[in-house]
Amino acid sequence: MKITYLSHSCFLVETSEYTILIDPFLTGNPLAPVKAADVRCDAILVTHGHGDHIGDTADIAKANDATVISSYEVIDWLSRQGVKKGHPLGLGGGFNFPFGRVKLTVALHSAGYKPEGSEDFLYLGVAAGVLLTAEGKTIYHAGDTALTLDMQLIGQRNRIDVAMLPIGDNFTMGPEDAVLAAEFVKAGLVLPMHYNTFPPIKQDAEAFVAALAEKGIKGNAIKIGETITV
Ligand code: NI
Ligand code: MN
Repeated sequence: MKITYLSHSCFLVETSEYTILIDPFLTGNPLAPVKAADVRCDAILVTHGHGDHIGDTADIAKANDATVISSYEVIDWLSRQGVKKGHPLGLGGGFNFPFGRVKLTVALHSAGYKPEGSEDFLYLGVAAGVLLTAEGKTIYHAGDTALTLDMQLIGQRNRIDVAMLPIGDNFTMGPEDAVLAAEFVKAGLVLPMHYNTFPPIKQDAEAFVAALAEKGIKGNAIKIGETITV
């Protein structure tokens, strides 16, 4: 399985047959290494309805005829943006797709969305993390979240090969809490995300990886545009 980091919380996961995109925030993202129009995928996982996660989902889904998997509220809203293939999941619920299994996990965060030109927030359900299992590997993408003891359960109930954890602070947990989160989920490899995109979430990812190493946890400050094989 190959994982490519497309900045912020966006990752492209490639199995031998399928390409799965997570949280595609590319347009308006100063660090995005690719244009939304150049991304090819079979499925898109959206952790929650904030603009920096839902991002280009509607355009990419329509251009690729991709299946979007997210909360009931996000899928309903996307269907009104012309997305034809949506699959809603609730927290704690999973489903076996042709490319693998997706399960939504608890995240402690919000999920309101402000459509362009609107002064009001649209209710888009609750924030989630995702567990993606394909070809015998399980990836945990935590979405945006605070540190929570629920992560212990995620580590107990799953053998996590790769965990993507936010380290930006300000809107999510910061690096110190993310080290504890990494201990909770017991991942074979931790990839930091949700940092440096904007000034309030500036962080030193190499320092985070060093802090993980002190706890005996393997981390990789994956570069934007870099692909790793797991
Ligand atoms: Ni968010
Ligand atoms: Mn975010």
